[in-house]
Amino acid sequence: MSTVIIDYNQKRERTELILKRINTLAPIPKILQEVLQLLNNINTSPHLLSKAISKDQSVVLKILTIANSPFYGLTKKVSSIEFAIMILGYDEIRNVVSALSLMESLKNKSDQYMDQKNFWMHSYVTATIAKKLALDMGLEKSGEAFIAALLHDLGISIIHRFMHTDFVSICDLVSSGASYYDAELQVIGMTHGEIGEILLKYWNIPDLIGEIVCNHHNPKLSERLPVLTSVVHLADYMTQQLRVGEFNWDDGLELNDHIFSALNIKDLAELGKFIDSYKEPLLAQIESLRYLA
Ligand SMILES: [Fe+2]
Ligand SMILES: [Fe+2]
Repeated sequence: MSTVIIDYNQKRERTELILKRINTLAPIPKILQEVLQLLNNINTSPHLLSKAISKDQSVVLKILTIANSPFYGLTKKVSSIEFAIMILGYDEIRNVVSALSLMESLKNKSDQYMDQKNFWMHSYVTATIAKKLALDMGLEKSGEAFIAALLHDLGISIIHRFMHTDFVSICDLVSSGASYYDAELQVIGMTHGEIGEILLKYWNIPDLIGEIVCNHHNPKLSERLPVLTSVVHLADYMTQQLRVGEFNWDDGLELNDHIFSALNIKDLAELGKFIDSYKEPLLAQIESLRYLA
């Protein structure tokens, strides 16, 4: 038994060392650095900010899609970054640019083990559902729910890109019957949620986002944000149940009981109806997202 614990600790330490190195291998993206600097200056105009953001067209395209998503709750058509900044506000833009540029900079090539397009779809669909759920429930931090959900599986992307041999070992264990959770602990000594939290801390993303990311499979463990973490957990579960933005790593994702009390849902039957009510609007917007991946 003690050998198992030592082994686990050693693997964990090894993973922590690799993550420290990733911090230098994948420094904070230039566009993000520039945007954060501009946002620190209270005199920065939306025009100047939009010029900085416009240097990265893939981020621009994604911000506009997000701003125009029916799940984001805006009624006007947003056709320019400047307009998006005015409507979403500086705080929200900071969060969206942070999340998108991190996703972009950590992107890896697709291979037989991970399809980047599916990963993006899964992250984006989970984020839009989380945002919509938070708005419908009248929660204050719906912007944080969106960002945390967009980044919730970032750790998987990190394992795939920077610890590829471990990624393959995890997949092999899963194909021989292990759960992803057990396989991650066995191979790298920590979960993808923990990896996400550690890296977000390095990149100075607000620690509340990190807390949600870390606990998205077990919202009960979130000390400060059990409700928002439950929202992200449920959104993750819904993408699997509704078969939109499917992602292998979440196959067989177990619903954590804590969401019933945290989100005031009576039982499984009520949850089923609740999930079904989101199906149509979700499917309607999925098509428009495919070209973004
Ligand atoms: Fe996950
Ligand atoms: Fe997920």
